[in-house]
Amino acid sequence: MVESAIQTQKNLSQLRCIGCGRIALADRFRCEHCRDLLEIIYPGWEGRGPGGLDAASLKQLWRERQSSLETRDQSGVWRFREILPAIPQRQIITIGEGNTPVYELPHCAKSAGIHQLFAKHQGMNPTGSFKDTGMTVAASFARQAGYKWVACASTGNTSASMAAYAARGGLHSLVLIPDGKISWSKLSQSLDYGAITCQLKTDFDGCVRVLNEVVERMPVYLLNSVNPYRVEGQKTVAFELLEHFAWEPPDHIIVPGGNLANSSAIGKALREMKQLGFISRLPKISVIQAEGANPLVRTIRETDGEKLVPVNADTMATAIRIGNPASWKKAIRVIRESAGTVEQVSEIEIALAKSEIGAEGIGCEPASAVTLAGLKKLVKQGFVKPNESVVLVLTGHVLKDADFTLKFHRGDLFEGTPYQAESRALKSHQRSPLVLDPSVGAVIDLLRSAEK
Ligand code: F0G
Repeated sequence: MVESAIQTQKNLSQLRCIGCGRIALADRFRCEHCRDLLEIIYPGWEGRGPGGLDAASLKQLWRERQSSLETRDQSGVWRFREILPAIPQRQIITIGEGNTPVYELPHCAKSAGIHQLFAKHQGMNPTGSFKDTGMTVAASFARQAGYKWVACASTGNTSASMAAYAARGGLHSLVLIPDGKISWSKLSQSLDYGAITCQLKTDFDGCVRVLNEVVERMPVYLLNSVNPYRVEGQKTVAFELLEHFAWEPPDHIIVPGGNLANSSAIGKALREMKQLGFISRLPKISVIQAEGANPLVRTIRETDGEKLVPVNADTMATAIRIGNPASWKKAIRVIRESAGTVEQVSEIEIALAKSEIGAEGIGCEPASAVTLAGLKKLVKQGFVKPNESVVLVLTGHVLKDADFTLKFHRGDLFEGTPYQAESRALKSHQRSPLVLDPSVGAVIDLLRSAEK
């Protein structure tokens, strides 16, 4: 294992500790000296640029690849391979990730009080979430490094993605998920893709603790988001987005915050783009959490970002039900250097925002909808101005949590919760299925009354 790790180090990338700056072996997750997280750096870029090319040549090359039939070029991740760790083509596990659409959301813009709003929909990835962009890189690295087993703790999307990439790459996979606290559709994915799936009687943070020990003792490669190769793959969403906007940065990018790898990855991408001369200014990157799972918000508000404030997380947006986020330091660095901010939103605000995104014919899972709910607050506070350009990163597909959507429209999502009374305000957004007699007249009557 170590031999292949060292071999990878000879390539243009290295792992460096975000705390003390020491270089680590290529298959590690934390610094052996200070236990901080690692990040990938590219000493080979110095002077010559990625792949020996300057920004203008790379922009052109990546565009040209869009019409290429080569498997790597058809991936929205590997199309940008010059800014990724070098992995031999035969080891790459890809299922056509990335290349996700950017949608305009005029009604949501109006509801938030701004002129124009875009959503980059990462739920349109092969397994229905943004996790695929990072998984293709980290799973490929695992295979190249000679691992037979990969594993993750997850709130459901990482596990679905890992199980798929492991299956495609001929690797075995182990999934640890919190019992009863993830959506059935995500659980069903990891079963279908053939992972060994364990529901532990704990929360996500408890699953992480168990798994960290397991991977210390067994030759199993960890694919949680502390994995620096996942962060590299997740960077490509920002390259795709900026390419879509002809390399003119939007004013704001708004992302949901759970374990905080996504915000870290998008921030790293933009930092690199600025360093490499792709863009001349950074968009403000803001992170939104659920009120019941708000460790980053508390860390910034209560300690000025110096010391993590872990919480006992609880939210119906189960994907971000995380109280002890691993990548908090990386996320804080991104928020600071991009002059972004953090905000938290209530369960009611999440449900409302999700229904508004759905009503645009787009849809997303609850964790993604925190972005719109957060944007509304940021506009009210004056942090986002009505004429500024804003992109929401929607992280998961609407079908990831159909249960939530059905309960919302039937009006029983908040039944028996402290939000029951407040949820009555959502009534006009609910579209419950109607049960009718099988008669033409009944349907026509209904249409006539709907027209009114
Ligand atoms: N949105 C969705 C749909 C997610 O699944 C997650 C995280 C996030 C947002 C938060 O991203 O952790 O990078 O800040 N899901 C992980 C999982 C934890 O196991 O699937 P983050």
